[in-house]
Amino acid sequence: MYILGIESSCDETSAAVLMNDIELSNVVANQTLVHKYYGGVVPELASRAHQQKIIPVVQEALRQANITKKQLNAVAFTRGPGLMGALLVGVSFAKSFALGMDIPLIDVNHMQGHVLAHFIQAAGSEKPVPTFPFLCLTVSGGHTQILLVKNFLDMKILGETQDDAAGEAFDKAAKIMGLPYPGGPLIDQLAGEGDPKRFAFPHPQVPGLNFSFSGLKTAFLYFIRDHVKSEPDFIENNKKDIAAGIQHTIVQILIEKLKRASTETGIKQIAIAGGVSANKGLRKELLLQEEKLNWKVFIPPFSYCTDNAAMIAMAGYHKFLNKEFSNQGISPLTRMPF
Ligand code: KG4
Ligand code: ZN
Repeated sequence: MYILGIESSCDETSAAVLMNDIELSNVVANQTLVHKYYGGVVPELASRAHQQKIIPVVQEALRQANITKKQLNAVAFTRGPGLMGALLVGVSFAKSFALGMDIPLIDVNHMQGHVLAHFIQAAGSEKPVPTFPFLCLTVSGGHTQILLVKNFLDMKILGETQDDAAGEAFDKAAKIMGLPYPGGPLIDQLAGEGDPKRFAFPHPQVPGLNFSFSGLKTAFLYFIRDHVKSEPDFIENNKKDIAAGIQHTIVQILIEKLKRASTETGIKQIAIAGGVSANKGLRKELLLQEEKLNWKVFIPPFSYCTDNAAMIAMAGYHKFLNKEFSNQGISPLTRMPF
């Protein structure tokens, strides 16, 4: 079965073709340059860029998959969560495409897509995948959740952030340091050469498996402001250690809760997903814990960490098998529970 996936929830326009669970193509048009100097994604600019890119991206995905559009069996698209104007482009495209080609339309929850990226296989090689149930730490620019994944389409939120997402904490810290958007990958890069122990930041006290990052952001802002007062070049002179310190703190906050979730559920299969799962500090720490706590850890390849349509097609494939289809009346959702 051939499934076309469409993703346009935030700042990547993406189309992918899967043959069952095998990726034939996964084309991503990145909008980093569009938003770089605005300190975040500008919704109106994102929508316009999606509108320009959606058709070329789909054409390229079909070309790389080496199939024609007539061979497609279904089109799966991100319904939400995301930015309304951005989602509208992908949703409208998918609806028109399904109508024009007379094929089923499947709506996908973007966060479910991030989790299911772990099940995408490459042609000619079979990689190990998690078995159910497993825990998934889903960390992106908009979300931070610990999920109990009971089956492909049956996931329960055990804990989530009460304010900022982990990716947002990275991006805001970067912004305070004067780095462009998205700052997460830049902090990661600088942190690789810094001392994580030189500057310490407070850990929030949040009950249960929930997270909070807004206090950390404020503490970081005051820390920078106070140091810059006495040493104007403080950031420039110490940027590697500052980045390493804030990254270490965010990673420790995430890992502490993940350990607690594993202890409470008795589940030792741990996966990570979402943009922040590309973070080298987080990946390294997880591998350390795998050894220490006898976990089996699943870390996605970099191409599946950030937003992409292959993960949407993957979720679409399982919804197809379950006969869960949408109709032409469907509209995007900026917030979308599981
Ligand atoms: O999943 P994603 O592409 O989009 C959303 O659904 O939000 O995640 C984007 C987020 C941004 O906040 C970005 O700074 C962060 O993921 N990110 C990283 C890294 N790569 C992307 N954060 C830390 N380290 C990275 N290497
Ligand atoms: Zn995402």
